[in-house]
Amino acid sequence: MGKKDKRWVLQRKNDHYYNLAKRRNYRSRATYKLFQLNEKFNLIKERNVVVDLGCAPGGWLQAARDIVGDNGFIVGIDLQTVKPLPHDNVIAIKGDMTKEEILKQAKDLLPEKPDVIICDASPNISGVWDVDHVRSLELTTMALMTATKMLKKGGNFVVKVFQGDLFEKYVQLVSEYFDKAFTTKPRASRDESAEVYVIGKRFNGRKFDMNSKSPIVKLLDTKPVEEEITSPSLRKEISKEDSGLMIKRIKEMRSKKE
Ligand SMILES: C[S@@+](CC[C@H](N)C(=O)[O-])C[C@H]1O[C@@H](n2cnc3c(N)ncnc32)[C@H](O)[C@@H]1O
Repeated sequence: MGKKDKRWVLQRKNDHYYNLAKRRNYRSRATYKLFQLNEKFNLIKERNVVVDLGCAPGGWLQAARDIVGDNGFIVGIDLQTVKPLPHDNVIAIKGDMTKEEILKQAKDLLPEKPDVIICDASPNISGVWDVDHVRSLELTTMALMTATKMLKKGGNFVVKVFQGDLFEKYVQLVSEYFDKAFTTKPRASRDESAEVYVIGKRFNGRKFDMNSKSPIVKLLDTKPVEEEITSPSLRKEISKEDSGLMIKRIKEMRSKKE
């Protein structure tokens, strides 16, 4: 075991939420993030129907099941296979949450429109702050779009976002579709992590505006930010640029490739 691995094992041993999750048979320490978010914002209630985007290994599925109880219903989606949970009212689909056919599969399983959409999905981390920020925004904007297509009017939304220059613009976009938008970092989220949670309370029923002038929606015009950005010099260049320039640069790179 290398030095770095040893440090990681030691850190985990001393991690309060990791130990708590292990003791209580929760599949991830993230379970506590959802409990804390729910305590503060009252997002999920007993008997609710919930969709969990990016749900593996299933910690949020377990937390949501604890909250909705026997008479609620939860469908999760993840690229990874999720080991089934011992409850009839929790189902996980293997697939890409950004793909129409997977969302349709989820929709077909639901007994009614969801009351809550939760999304803790993480993109592949490159280690370049701005690139990870854009990757995260691509996923979270797809999640917001899904929320506006699926949610009951008055329904709630929570999504993990990696911070960066466009963060406030994302919150602004969420506030267009919900009566109230909040940002928060639950206690169980590590201080050093770039993640923040954005909450949308009470969906106003608006259809997602693909022609919006928001720079966030414009991100969807491009193909997902890519494995293409692998050259170290380009990474360095991108991490120095501001987000507008970065998006322009990514688009330019792509148009050259196409
Ligand atoms: C931090 S984990 C989620 C942890 C989960 N909330 C829990 O408590 O167990 C992030 C997940 O997002 C998933 N993910 C990332 N991109 C995705 C995509 N496009 N479609 C579905 N899942 C995705 C990853 O496979 C990963 O399992």
